[in-house]
Amino acid sequence: MFEKNILVTGGAGFIGSHVVRLFANKYQNYRIINFDKLTYAGNLENLKDVDTKENYVFFKGDICNREDIIAVFEKYQVSDIIHLAAESHVDRSISGPMEFVLTNVVGTVNLLQVAKEKWDKESNHVFHHVSTDEVYGSLGNEGLFEETTAYDPRSPYSASKASSDHFVNAYYHTYGLPVKMSNCSNNYGSHHFPEKLIPLMINNIVNKKPLPVYGKGLNVRDWLWVVDHARAIDTIFHQGKIGESYNVGGLNEWTNIELVKYLCRLMDSKLNRSEGESEKLIQYVTDRAGHDMRYAIDASKIEKELNWTPSVTFEEGLNATVDWYLENQEWMNAVTSGDYSKYYEKMYQS
Ligand code: NAD
Ligand code: TYD
Repeated sequence: MFEKNILVTGGAGFIGSHVVRLFANKYQNYRIINFDKLTYAGNLENLKDVDTKENYVFFKGDICNREDIIAVFEKYQVSDIIHLAAESHVDRSISGPMEFVLTNVVGTVNLLQVAKEKWDKESNHVFHHVSTDEVYGSLGNEGLFEETTAYDPRSPYSASKASSDHFVNAYYHTYGLPVKMSNCSNNYGSHHFPEKLIPLMINNIVNKKPLPVYGKGLNVRDWLWVVDHARAIDTIFHQGKIGESYNVGGLNEWTNIELVKYLCRLMDSKLNRSEGESEKLIQYVTDRAGHDMRYAIDASKIEKELNWTPSVTFEEGLNATVDWYLENQEWMNAVTSGDYSKYYEKMYQS
């Protein structure tokens, strides 16, 4: 008998796998149910270190399919949800927005609706929706995103996440669903699909391939180690107030070009290459359409109210991250070639 049966959607993805790992290792009294469709971005190899644990189970399902959600609720008496399943890459949302509407908006509403139907109001349930700072839009040189900043999404990805956030709030205000929300800045760390800036650059540096920097490389992102994001989700899930949202970030702003150059220097020294070798791979390419200029988070609410702060500096986190990719090149080759996807497709057909 478990004290809680927590459904983690998107648990096979980048951040989700870190959340599942943290919860499965820390809370033996909770059953962690990883609910994932296993798209190109998710694979169970990300969780091979926890998959034999008694308090962990995997359920292959699609949040766009109501029957899948009902089935997992009935099989495991889901008591709480940490919702991470999403289409997450801005460039893909520009070339194909509809998948983002379906997964991020319709899928989220499906999940909210089943939770509303299955949970009685007297019990203590939590629906923790994991969102992004990109819903706030784009900053100029000054200022930080606060929880009260007006929503101003500008990419199809951020528009779909903003819409899902609005539905989460609507279910709280209209039906009293016990929701909590977090909006986090850009994450980096292990098990990150190499289409996003940091793992893509690491992979290309290893393979001496061009490093595509969009525009002039002057856009700014605020980077947070994924393990610290998982710790923040743990903190908010347990101590956050129902109906509230929390911004999560590391006060760690970098222009893309400075970050890519830093990675080049770090990796030249780790790969015993001559100084400046990898920087020669940098290529300035056509800018992303509607490219948000700057994201930066004011995390003082979660720091003051819930006593959360990042546990590592960016230099420490990035060093550990690069080491992980260098030690796990098989993982990198399998995700970039689609080998894991083909394997799981076959496994779940039979
Ligand atoms: P990801 O793309 O690495 O993983 C997404 C996971 O969701 C994958 O395992 C995929 O298989 C699964 N999934 C996709 N569609 C599904 C569906 N219809 N049904 C069930 N599962 C499905 O994403 P990520 O970077 O780990 O992001 C996780 C969440 O955190 C997202 O909601 C994202 O918006 C949010 N977020 C991400 C960042 C970041 O920097 N990566 C920052 C802030 C917030
Ligand atoms: P990304 O990792 O896609 O995250 P997001 O767009 O959600 O912030 O991109 C981070 C930044 O890096 C963003 O400003 C776009 C830029 N970028 C490049 O310059 N080159 C690339 O190949 C990629 C993927 C991103």
